[in-house]
Amino acid sequence: MSAAKNCTPKTGLMPVPLFDTETPLAGLRPVILERIGEVVRGGRFILGPEVGAFEQELAAYVGVRHAIGVGNGTDALTIAARALGIEPGDEVVVPSFTFYATAEAIAATGAVPVFCDVDRDTRNITVETIRPALSERTRAIVAVDLFGMPAEIPAIREAFGLPVIEDAAQALGASLDGVRAGALGDIATFSFYPSKNLGAFGDGGAVTTNDDELAERVRALRFHGSRDKQTFVYVGYNSRLDEIQAAILRVLLPQIDAWCAGRRAGVQAYIDAGLGQHFKLGGAPLGATPAWHLYVVTHPEADAKLALLGAAGIQARGYYRVPLHRQPAMAPYLNGRGGSFELPVTDELARTNVALPISPVFTRAQADEVVAALATA
Ligand SMILES: Cc1ncc(COP(=O)(O)O)c(C=O)c1O
Repeated sequence: MSAAKNCTPKTGLMPVPLFDTETPLAGLRPVILERIGEVVRGGRFILGPEVGAFEQELAAYVGVRHAIGVGNGTDALTIAARALGIEPGDEVVVPSFTFYATAEAIAATGAVPVFCDVDRDTRNITVETIRPALSERTRAIVAVDLFGMPAEIPAIREAFGLPVIEDAAQALGASLDGVRAGALGDIATFSFYPSKNLGAFGDGGAVTTNDDELAERVRALRFHGSRDKQTFVYVGYNSRLDEIQAAILRVLLPQIDAWCAGRRAGVQAYIDAGLGQHFKLGGAPLGATPAWHLYVVTHPEADAKLALLGAAGIQARGYYRVPLHRQPAMAPYLNGRGGSFELPVTDELARTNVALPISPVFTRAQADEVVAALATA
C-alpha cells in the first residue's frame, strides 16, 4: 500500500506515502502467518472459532454487547438497515460527503437515501444539517464518523428519536465523551478493508450493537436469513467474515490503541510543523478523540496544492470530489430536483479538501517535509 515507493520526488527527500500499511505490520507478520497456518490446518473456514473469538474481542473493545462479523463494510450497512426494519419506500437520511457505499447500502434495501449537508469543521452531519432532510417517511439516520472523527450521535438521537446507524467504517479507535465509535449509534458498522485503521488481508466488516434483538436479526441476515440453517425467515444475504480474516484481525486488534495514538501524534506533528499557515485545519466536537483514518485539511485552491505536493513526492489526494448527491446512480433519489439540488458545505468541502499522508508511524520529519514542500510555492 506504500504506493509512493514508485514515485520519485524532485527534492531528493524521501517520498511520503498517503497510507503506510506496511511498517506497522512488520513485527507482526510471523505471528499472522502462524495463525493463518493454524486455520488452514484446522480446516474450518466459515463461521468457526476465529470469527466467534474476534466478535467477542471486538465487542469488548468497542464496549457493546454484540459484534457480528460480515463480508465487508457495505454489507454491514445494508444488513444493519434491514435489521432495523428499513423497507422499500422508507426514507433514510444520509450525508452526501462520504464514501459512495454509505448511500448505496441504503438504496440496496429498497429505501430512499435522502441527502443532507455536513458541518464545515467536523465534516459530519449534525442536528441542524439533518433537520431539512426529514419527512414523515424518515425511518432512520446514517451518521458517518468521517475520516475517523466521531459524529455527534448522542445529540442526534436525542433530537429526533429516530434510530441512528453509525457508519464507523473509518473510525475504529475514536471516541466521544469516552464512548467508543461503534457504541454511539443504535447499531454501528465497520469495514476492515486493508487500508482502514484495522485492516484485514482482504475484505471484512462487522456490525456492533447493544440491542439483543437487532444482533439476533443481524446474525440471521448474514446467513441467508436463517437462525438454524433449516428455516429461512428473511430474504437475507450470504455475507460472513471468514476465518482467515478473523484470525488476522485478532492479531491486529490489540494494536489499535497504539496505532491510533500514533495517528494522533502525526496530526500534532503537522500542527507543530506549521501546517496551519498553508491550510485551514478542521475542528472536532467537544469531547471527541478522533481516530484520524485520514487527515483532511482544506484550501480554496486544493488542486494546486495537490500538484505542489505531488511534485515533491508527497502522496496527497482529494476525497469525494463528486459528492453523492451529484453521482449519476443517485439521481433517482433526488425527487426530481436533479442538478438544482445543492448542499453548500458538502459542495465546498468536495472541492477544497486535501487528504495528507497519515499513519500510525507518521513522523515529525515527514510532517516537516510536507510543510517544506508547501512553503516552496
Ligand atoms: C464511510 C465508509 N462507509 C462504508 C465503507 C464500505 O466498506 P467496504 O469497502 O468494506 O465495503 C467505507 C469504506 O470502504 C467507508 O469509508
